[in-house]
Amino acid sequence: MTQISITAKDRVFVLTGAGISAESGLPTFRAEDGLWAGHSVEEVCTPEAWRRNPEAVWQFYSERRAAGEKAMPNPAHIALAELEAKLGNRFFLCTQNVDDLHERAGSERLVHMHGELAKARCERECGRSPVEDRTIYRSLSEVGHCFCGGRLRPHIVFFGEIPLEMELIQEEIGKATLMLVVGTSGSVYPAANFVHWARMAGARTVYVGPEPPLNASAFTHVVEGKAGVVLPGLFQVE
Ligand code: APR
Repeated sequence: MTQISITAKDRVFVLTGAGISAESGLPTFRAEDGLWAGHSVEEVCTPEAWRRNPEAVWQFYSERRAAGEKAMPNPAHIALAELEAKLGNRFFLCTQNVDDLHERAGSERLVHMHGELAKARCERECGRSPVEDRTIYRSLSEVGHCFCGGRLRPHIVFFGEIPLEMELIQEEIGKATLMLVVGTSGSVYPAANFVHWARMAGARTVYVGPEPPLNASAFTHVVEGKAGVVLPGLFQVE
């Protein structure tokens, strides 16, 4: 069994994608039976879709909320929370996922670069912080408005929008000596570039997933297997 040794000098940056939540029963995006096989990105996940048909966008993300509520963290989420408990501030987690399974497993030092399902924000970007919102909307008339009059939209980074927390992410990648990437196809940027940034900063780079990602050649190790099977035994912390 592959093991990754982590010494007292290491700083670990972890990037996760939809694959880490697959064993919790949440579908990935690009599998044959994935979310983008059943829905059109252009109709539910772009600024144009929001302008054209906000009800269809809220319907899609309401369905995601309903599925996310039923899901439970799996051994991969738990293994990362346990690693963080050992490494403290030498650990940083960046997830592309909008579910809250990392938090529910106990992770604390994490950012959601593509947003969070359980929040909504003003469509006018009027400056108010996102608010907690777990409502499963049945129609647009149920969706609230901001004080400024703008409609609340999902706190999700649509295609064409800039991911969140990029400054902090770049800073953390620059400091990391080990980058671990789990369950992401390497097809969405800028996340697919993180491994290159880590390599330029001299870090070891490890990928875990059942198949090599599109950017596999940039990794120093590719460990093929399901995250929930591989991660619990992967780390040897010295
Ligand atoms: N363990 C680990 N990886 C897995 C597992 C598993 N049990 N099952 C599937 N995978 C892997 C697949 O092999 C695939 O490489 O998860 C990856 C999922 O890829 P995508 O569906 O493309 O999801 P992701 O890379 O997270 O998508 C990135 O695209 O649509 C947007 O904003 C959305 O954040 C998302 C982004």
